[in-house]
Amino acid sequence: MRLLVVDDDAMMRMLLSRIFVQEADVIGLHSGRSALEWLEENTCDLVLLDYRMPDMDGLDVLRNLRKHSQHDDLPVILLTGDTETGLETEGFALGATDFIRKPFVPDVVRHRVRRLVRYEYLKKHLEQEVGRKTLLAESRLSESRLLFREMVVSLARTVDAKDKYTSGHSERVANYACRIARRAGESVENQEKIYYMGMLHDIGKIGVPGIIINKEDALSKEEYARIQTHTIIGAKILQSIDVFPDLAIAARCHHERFDGTGYPDRLKGQDIPRFARILAVADSYDAMTSNRSYRRMLPQAQVRQEIVLGRGTQFDPEFADIMLTLIDEDATYLMREITQQLDPD
Ligand SMILES: [Fe+2]
Repeated sequence: MRLLVVDDDAMMRMLLSRIFVQEADVIGLHSGRSALEWLEENTCDLVLLDYRMPDMDGLDVLRNLRKHSQHDDLPVILLTGDTETGLETEGFALGATDFIRKPFVPDVVRHRVRRLVRYEYLKKHLEQEVGRKTLLAESRLSESRLLFREMVVSLARTVDAKDKYTSGHSERVANYACRIARRAGESVENQEKIYYMGMLHDIGKIGVPGIIINKEDALSKEEYARIQTHTIIGAKILQSIDVFPDLAIAARCHHERFDGTGYPDRLKGQDIPRFARILAVADSYDAMTSNRSYRRMLPQAQVRQEIVLGRGTQFDPEFADIMLTLIDEDATYLMREITQQLDPD
């Protein structure tokens, strides 16, 4: 422990040095100015500061000391022979840690100093420990987020690999849905959620036979019904993710239509979750702008027309309008090339 004793009275400096002779390195200085100079180059664990000194009183020293950030939390005990209570109030306001009145009992001074130094040590140690733990927690959190994201990408690619014509479909739908959500004023957090819902919306296709998914001829009624089950299968797969229940809801509801003729629950209008209405537009846009087993991708003007036709029937008008704006901004018809990014704009 290192103590700085600042007192113009040499006897007082000697007395205080003697009190701590066993346990501390005590530096004694005779004036406030010399103490401030010493503290510019050195440091200590605590200052015992006399209030009444000729050149600069204890309060002035304290005021100057607190201006320097390296000493703003250095414990300072003011020593005073005055009985005036206003002095204590002013001293505490300036950042004094404690007061000791002269004449004092050596043991009391010893206990107070020890307690304050110990307290400061624990406080600093605790702050460092909290800082270290916070950094560790942040790094673990970002690792888990990265892992989650990479797992989602892998799952989405697993689904898309099943259909030779829909490579990259999930990532593009996620991307379009994220753009629509942003234009609709959703928060960054919600945009990210919608992105993940887009990535996994078709995960239920894992449970539909590849022979039906890849069939080039027209589907029979039974086969079409089988394809439709991907919404229910997807919801079942994702329902175990308790921390993100909307993932399962998005998988279930992305084929609902705004007019209530979609599947699997024939939900209508605002009864369809908002993010599923966004996904429905994004999903259809990608279907029309991709080559499929039974047709080539459609020309942009035709895609635009289909969105206009579906506005209010298949699609929520709010999100159909946003999609139309995105189409109109995409003069080169290259929007589908920009994929696999969470934040493409
Ligand atoms: Fe789907």
